[in-house]
Parts: sequence; structure tokens; C-alpha cells
Amino acid sequence: MSTPDIDAREHGYFAHATSVVENGARIGPGTQIWHHAHVRADAQIGKDCTLGKGVYVDAGAIIGHRCKIQNSVSVYAGVRLDDEVFVGPSAIFTNDLRPRAANAQWTVVPTHVGSGASIGANATIVCGNDIGRHAMVAAGAVVTRPVRDHQLVAGNPAHHLGWVCWCGEVVSRDVDAPEDISCAAHRQVRREPPRVISDQVSDPEGAQ
Ligand SMILES: CC(C)(COP(=O)(O)OP(=O)(O)OC[C@H]1O[C@@H](n2cnc3c(N)ncnc32)[C@H](O)[C@@H]1OP(=O)(O)O)[C@@H](O)C(=O)NCCC(=O)NCCS
Ligand SMILES: [Zn+2]
Repeated sequence: MSTPDIDAREHGYFAHATSVVENGARIGPGTQIWHHAHVRADAQIGKDCTLGKGVYVDAGAIIGHRCKIQNSVSVYAGVRLDDEVFVGPSAIFTNDLRPRAANAQWTVVPTHVGSGASIGANATIVCGNDIGRHAMVAAGAVVTRPVRDHQLVAGNPAHHLGWVCWCGEVVSRDVDAPEDISCAAHRQVRREPPRVISDQVSDPEGAQ
């Protein structure tokens, strides 16, 4: 285990004096690990991530690049976060579907969170329910079904509330996803076919 007062510049990441980073944890450059966080050996964290106060990253958990993990979140074994995932304060991942204190034979049920997805404060993700790319889980939601790419869900159990742009703006309240899940600001510019201008421009030298 590394000594707490590490400013691990030689590794390219920062770990606050009160954090615990176990030997064997793989952490990318530019990542910041704040007060009382604990990163276990065999955890994998990408570059330029922020881990807030009291964050716990279990052995075997995988976190991509540029993720933001807010205070008091535990990322348990079996959880894989792709790049640019946001996890709000006190959100909970589970990894045991039928927990028993005395069952040593339990199996980890994996959960995958796609790139750009956000999980609101205090939400609970029941293991095995993957969260799609750019999806948004509302504060306090209890996710008991997989969440699709760009889908917005809320409540307990979490239900469909709409579809969000990659920026988080609600684009549609329909049940079916729109063809282009982009807000007005990020809608793809549709290209006009090129105008034929040759008959509008006279050639000063005289056309042949
Ligand atoms: C869900 C959220 C993204 C808002 O989405 P929205 O579709 O714009 O929400 P609206 O305010 O238009 O409300 C739509 C409906 O959803 C409900 N709703 C909004 N947030 C909700 C939540 N967290 N849980 C349950 N229902 C919620 C509203 O009450 C409303 O219901 P109604 O139509 O029956 O009145 C937002 O409320 C939220 O939870 N954001 C996450 C905040 C967070 O955790 N941040 C972490 C960093 S601080
Ligand atoms: Zn947008």
C-alpha cells in the first residue's frame, strides 16, 4: 500500500494525502484522487479522471478516461465504466443479485456503463442492468432494467422519461427513440447538394 501523503507525480496522477492507493492499481496520468478515497490493487482507472471524497474503487473494477466519480461512490468489482461517465454523489452500484452474509460462493454479476452516460445522485443500479451510451439516470432512480443509449430514466423502479442528447438536453418524450437524438444546438447540419454555378459565372476571357 502506498503511503498516504503521496502526490504521485512520478506516476502522473494525483492522490490526496488521506487517500489510499494500493500497489498494483493502474491509474492513468492526469487523474485526481481526493480525500479518503480508496483504490484497491487490480483496479484500473484511465487518464484525466476525478474521484471525489470517499470514493471506493474495488479490485477488478474498470474506469475509462475522463470519468467524474462524485463523493462517496463505490465502484465494485464487475463494474466497468467506459470513457466520460459521470457518477453522481452517493450513487450505488451493486454486484451481488442475491446477497447472503454467509454465502462464500456468490458470483459477481457484471454491469457495464457506456461512454458519456450519467448516473444521478443517490441512484442505485441493480447489477446486470447495463447503461447505454449517453444515457441519463435521474437522481434517486433505482435501475432494474437495462437503459438504452441516450435514454432518460427516473423513479423506483426506473421508468422511461424520454431521450437525451449527448449534452443532456431532453430531445423527445416518445416511447420510441427519434432517428436523430440531438438537441437543436447539436443537430447534424444537413448538407445541401452543391449548387451548379458554372452558368451563373461569366468567364472574362470568354468561354470556349
Ligand atoms: C431527471 C432530470 C435529468 C430532469 O429530467 P427532465 O425530463 O428535464 O425533468 P422535468 O423536470 O421536465 O420533469 C419531468 C417529470 O420527471 C419527474 N422527475 C424529474 N426528476 C426526477 C427524479 N430525479 N426522479 C423521479 N422523477 C423525476 C418530474 O417530477 C416530472 O414528472 P411529472 O411529469 O409527473 O410532473 C433531473 O431531475 C435529474 O434527476 N438530474 C440529475 C441530477 C443529479 O443527480 N446531479 C448529480 C450531480 S449534482
Ligand atoms: Zn445537445
